[in-house]
Amino acid sequence: MSSQIKRIGLMGCGVVADYGHVPAIQAVEQLKLCSIFDPHEESLKRMQQKFNIENAFTDEDAFFNSDIDAVSITSPAPCHRANVLNAAKNKLPVICEKPLAMNKTEAKEMIDAMQKADCSLYTAFCYRFSPSALKIKELIEREAIGQVRVLRLINIWNCHGKYEIDANGNKIIQKRREDRMFEGGPMIDCGTHQIDLANFWLNSDVVNFSGHGGWVEEYEAPDHIWLHMDHVNGTHTIVEMSYSYHHTSKHPHTEFIYELIGTKGVIRYHNEAQTFSMETDQGTENFPFHPVKSFTGMYNEWASALITGKSDLLATAQQGLSVTEIASQATEQAINGRYK
Ligand SMILES: NC(=O)c1ccc[n+]([C@@H]2O[C@H](COP(=O)([O-])OP(=O)(O)OC[C@H]3O[C@@H](n4cnc5c(N)ncnc54)[C@H](O)[C@@H]3O)[C@@H](O)[C@H]2O)c1
Repeated sequence: MSSQIKRIGLMGCGVVADYGHVPAIQAVEQLKLCSIFDPHEESLKRMQQKFNIENAFTDEDAFFNSDIDAVSITSPAPCHRANVLNAAKNKLPVICEKPLAMNKTEAKEMIDAMQKADCSLYTAFCYRFSPSALKIKELIEREAIGQVRVLRLINIWNCHGKYEIDANGNKIIQKRREDRMFEGGPMIDCGTHQIDLANFWLNSDVVNFSGHGGWVEEYEAPDHIWLHMDHVNGTHTIVEMSYSYHHTSKHPHTEFIYELIGTKGVIRYHNEAQTFSMETDQGTENFPFHPVKSFTGMYNEWASALITGKSDLLATAQQGLSVTEIASQATEQAINGRYK
C-alpha cells in the first residue's frame, strides 16, 4: 500500500462525529483530518478545540476550497443530499452516514452525481467493522453452523431517553430523539445497520419484507417496530428495533442481540452480557467480545479504498440505498397497517 496521506474534510460536528468519526480518522495513519464544516459556529469551534483541527468553516465553499482529498459526512440525514451533491461538484470521494438519504429519489440523485464526478460514495455502516461482526461473517462463510436459516437482530433501547435537562435545569423533550422520530423512527435510523448486517453476512438479496409497529408514544412513525425479511437463499431475518424501551425509566435497560440459527448450531452475540459464542454438537465455543461498532475499522478500510480505488468490505451507496428503501417501506407498512 502507498504511504500517501489523504487530507480529509468532515461535515457535521455533532454527537456521532465527536465520539466516533473524528477520533477514528485521527487514529488512522493514512488519513489526516484537516478541515471541518458545521453551520453552527458553537459546535464547530468546540470540535476544533477539542480535537485540535487545523481548519474550521461555517462557509461551505471555503470548506471545499481548503485542499481536501475526500469528505466524511456526519450531518443529520436531511442534509446528506446537499452535502453529497456539493462534494460531487468539487469532485471529492465521500463516505456518508446512514441513512444515506431521506428517500429513493434523493439517493439516486446523489449516486448519479457521484458517478458523473467519477468519485466513490460509500455508506458509513460501522457495525460491519466490529471484529465480532467480521467473525460472524467468517463463521457463516465456512458453514460453522451449517446453513443459516434464521437471523434474530434485536436492538431495543430508549435513544437516550424521552427527556433531557436544559441549561436552566428544566426537564424538556430530548431533541435528538424527537428529531429521529420525525425522520421516520428507529428502523430508518438505527435499524438500517441491522438490515445492512443481514445483507453483509448472508450475501443474499431480500425478496420480500413486511413491517409491523407498536406505538408507546404518538409520533406518526412507530417507536417500536418489527421487520420480517425473506432472503433469496431461504433465510428469514427478523429485526426488532425500539426507541421507547424504558424511555422514561429511571434505570433504563437495553437489549442488543444477534442470533444466527443454522442447520448445525447457533451463534449468539449479546452486547449487555458482553458474550459472543457458538453452540454446535461439538459444544460451546467462546469468542472474544468486541463492541457493536468500529469506526476505526471502517476508516482503516476507507483509507485503503481511497488509495487503491476498491473495497470488498465497505457498503456501497447502492447498498445504502436498498437498505434505506427497505427501512422506509417497512415503516410505511407499519404506519398503514396500524390498527386503531
Ligand atoms: N453510525 C452510527 O452508529 C450513528 C450513530 C448516531 C448517529 N448516526 C447518524 O449520523 C448522523 C448525525 O447524527 P448525530 O447524532 O451526530 O446528529 P447531531 O444532531 O448530534 O449532529 C449533527 C451536526 O450536523 C450539523 N449540521 C446541521 N446542518 C448541517 C449541514 N447542512 N451540513 C453539515 N452539518 C450540518 C449540526 O449543527 C450538528 O452539529 C445522522 O445521519 C445519524 O443517523 C449514526
